[in-house]
Amino acid sequence: MRKGSTMKQLLTHVFLFTLFHHSFAIDTLKPNEYLLDGKTLVSAKGNFALGFFSPGDSKNRYVGIWYNKLPVQTVVWVANRLSPIAATNGTLQLNGQGVLTINSKIVFPGPSVIRLNNPVAQLLDDGNLVVKEANSSEFAWQSFDYPTDTLLPGMKLGWDLRTGLNRNLTAWQSDNDPSPGSYVASMDLKGIPQLTVWSGSAKRWSSGPWNGTAFSNIPKMSSLNGFLFNFISNEDEVYYMYNTTDPKIVSRLMVNQSGTLERFVWIDSAGKWNVFWYAPNGQCEEYSPCGPFGLCDLKGSPICSCLQGFTPKSPQDWALMDASSGCVRRTALDCKNKTDGFMILDHAALPDTSNAIVHTNLSLNECRTTCLTNCSCTGYTSADIRGGGSGCIIWVDELIDSGTIPNVVQDLYVRLAAADVASVTDDDELELPQLQWNTVMAATENFAINNILGEGGFGPVYKGKLTEGQEIAVKRLSRNSAQGVDEFKNEVILIAKLQHRNLVRLLGYCIQGVERMLVYEYMSKGSLDALLFDKEHGMHLDWQARLRIIVGIARGLLYLHQDSRFRIIHRDLKASNILLDAEMNPKISDFGMARIFGEDETINKTRKVVGTYGYMAPEYALNGIFSVKSDVFSFGVLVLEIISGQRNKGVYLSEPHLYLLGNVSIYLVP
Ligand SMILES: *[C@@H]1O[C@H](CO)[C@@H](O)[C@H](O)[C@H]1NC(C)=O
Ligand SMILES: *[C@@H]1O[C@H](CO)[C@@H](O)[C@H](O)[C@H]1NC(C)=O
Ligand SMILES: *[C@@H]1O[C@H](CO)[C@@H](O)[C@H](O)[C@H]1NC(C)=O
Ligand SMILES: *[C@@H]1O[C@H](CO)[C@@H](O)[C@H](O)[C@H]1NC(C)=O
Ligand SMILES: *[C@@H]1O[C@H](CO)[C@@H](O)[C@H](O)[C@H]1NC(C)=O
Ligand SMILES: *[C@@H]1O[C@H](CO)[C@@H](O)[C@H](O)[C@H]1NC(C)=O
Ligand SMILES: *[C@@H]1O[C@H](CO)[C@@H](O)[C@H](O)[C@H]1NC(C)=O
Ligand SMILES: *[C@@H]1O[C@H](CO)[C@@H](O)[C@H](O)[C@H]1NC(C)=O
Ligand SMILES: *[C@@H]1O[C@H](CO)[C@@H](O)[C@H](O)[C@H]1NC(C)=O
Ligand SMILES: *[C@@H]1O[C@H](CO)[C@@H](O)[C@H](O)[C@H]1NC(C)=O
Ligand SMILES: *[C@@H]1O[C@H](CO)[C@@H](O)[C@H](O)[C@H]1NC(C)=O
Repeated sequence: MRKGSTMKQLLTHVFLFTLFHHSFAIDTLKPNEYLLDGKTLVSAKGNFALGFFSPGDSKNRYVGIWYNKLPVQTVVWVANRLSPIAATNGTLQLNGQGVLTINSKIVFPGPSVIRLNNPVAQLLDDGNLVVKEANSSEFAWQSFDYPTDTLLPGMKLGWDLRTGLNRNLTAWQSDNDPSPGSYVASMDLKGIPQLTVWSGSAKRWSSGPWNGTAFSNIPKMSSLNGFLFNFISNEDEVYYMYNTTDPKIVSRLMVNQSGTLERFVWIDSAGKWNVFWYAPNGQCEEYSPCGPFGLCDLKGSPICSCLQGFTPKSPQDWALMDASSGCVRRTALDCKNKTDGFMILDHAALPDTSNAIVHTNLSLNECRTTCLTNCSCTGYTSADIRGGGSGCIIWVDELIDSGTIPNVVQDLYVRLAAADVASVTDDDELELPQLQWNTVMAATENFAINNILGEGGFGPVYKGKLTEGQEIAVKRLSRNSAQGVDEFKNEVILIAKLQHRNLVRLLGYCIQGVERMLVYEYMSKGSLDALLFDKEHGMHLDWQARLRIIVGIARGLLYLHQDSRFRIIHRDLKASNILLDAEMNPKISDFGMARIFGEDETINKTRKVVGTYGYMAPEYALNGIFSVKSDVFSFGVLVLEIISGQRNKGVYLSEPHLYLLGNVSIYLVP
């Protein structure tokens, strides 16, 4: 006790340290000695204590190790998780061969036979209870080899491959019951070793492979002050270990009862533990929320999408926000002919590496070649797995649990068929064919009136058929663009680069004199407008189909607003501008028209109302471009129309960022 303590302080001290008070401050137990319930062993510097305790409201007695100097009892290890003592008459003993017993029963984890001549059990200052020959420093048994739910500095989480010892953390069943619960944090050796949290036999989280300084999917790890992280992988051992750089930092890592890995740091001034880091943190860190070949991005809405070149395996489930079935390739790989290529996913959270292999000393280029020559290879990335040596990781079969993390500098190369690579490379050599006037005339039978599909705001649209048999839709722009030929071309090429499965694809263009034409893919199911409102020819749309359409439009819009390289505000979003393909996938048409007609400026000047649902408050006109909210406005109306099946169900939503549709929400983040 400090001199000069007031009586009150003294009392709280006595109260808080009653456990300490009972102990004899010895750290070793010899074969002829007993540790009775109520007594403790205390490590040499007083950091840790070992004794009997009752967790929570339980009356059961367990032998455990806790921090001796902290005012809140924090148990870090339990000896008899499965064999509690019902009364306070427990006795801890070390038998003559060096095996610890409680009431003469062997209930400690580990071998039941240890042959030592002169054994002692000793509680060390790092919290490790060890059994050894009295005259030796080599441990015959140590509690660090049999973790409970907590990893202390210096403990290994992982494997001794020579003995098959698998040190893992298993959550407590409950606060009152330290017996093993269903959550386990272990070092998974399948493929490339990674730290994994399991819920029973299902993966809940994985750390990604060690890249030399950190686990690749824990971006914070490499910048944490006060900690040293270590990962060892060789023929003998594979484990993770950490230490603090300053003994004054008291920290522990545990898997808690809801299956979250939590790192705590003791805050002395506050007298409590602080959660410093935890995982999984957020939906994208959960294991594979978007299924095989899916991509999780917290900033996306919804968070799941498919990797480029892939499309949802079960669009129905995806529409209902269940993406777990994942995605399938648009175009099958062409391994034999070696025409496949790669798409680059940057800021990548690496997919699960349990089906991946490390190739040390392979350059990225060699890695690419290796991948292309192996038909089961689906992707690769660079790796610094063994610390120092460069190399690469190659995945076979499905890519599971891919995501993007903003601060991570890691590229994932995803193998795609040539056709899909071409559609995603937004390089400048994109070939957008300029069609000859004759070709277009032939395709539309000289713009025959009975080939007119509809009349949009920008002119009539004709159905056409190229000589190769491909069906097309030709939009003949009625108003002469203010732009010259080159400007028009530039805009069209730019629009052609906007590629998304919910946007109508631009196939080409045609310029003849003052005529300007855009050639699109043909959408066989026509416009949503007709479908919704045409009593005779309209189709019955059930709730699921409506929802799928809404979600699709939202995805397309989000791409235009946020994910494309050029922010495009549609400004005339309405049911007649939503087209449906043969599979009833909705696709937005007429996007980018404002650019072609150079309308942004005129709108600024005149505050002219544009678009069918053209209410736009002046405050949304920012610097000549109506902000994202203008689309959000008509999107709100559109959604209401799709749900109600009535035209002009015009409700102007003042805060239209979030739509609640039944129990499904659609977020549009402007
Ligand atoms: C401990 O006490 C319980 C109940 O009081 C009794 O059943 C048990 O035999 C005792 N065990 C020992 C080792 O004394
Ligand atoms: C420890 O003591 C045992 C006898 O009790 C002896 O056989 C052994 O050689 C000693 N080991 C060391 C390292 O002193
Ligand atoms: C951890 O760091 C402390 C110093 O902060 C050092 O004394 C101790 O040996 C280290 N433990 C391990 C297992 O490296
Ligand atoms: C955890 O360790 C125990 C004991 O070594 C082992 O039986 C169990 O299979 C391990 N669980 C996992 C998920 O590694
Ligand atoms: C390892 O991964 C961490 C976290 O993702 C990252 O910050 C660090 O730069 C990476 N280091 C190397 C050598 O790749
Ligand atoms: C587990 O950790 C997470 C994150 O710190 C926390 O939200 C959750 O409440 C914890 N669960 C339990 C049972 O303590
Ligand atoms: C909506 O809630 C009902 C009842 O809770 C549930 O059966 C249904 O699956 C939910 N629908 C979606 C799309 O989540
Ligand atoms: C490989 O190329 C040949 C000829 O170019 C083509 O007939 C065949 O379909 C291609 N194979 C695949 C799997 O695409
Ligand atoms: C990788 O390259 C380094 C240096 O070039 C060399 O020392 C090492 O043996 C190589 N490892 C393998 C597995 O080839
Ligand atoms: C492809 O790679 C996997 C993993 O390295 C390997 O198991 C398989 O044998 C390879 N196939 C061929 C044809 O090389
Ligand atoms: C748009 O209008 C605002 C206010 O009326 C004005 O400050 C701004 O300069 C205009 N921008 C353009 C591009 O004309």
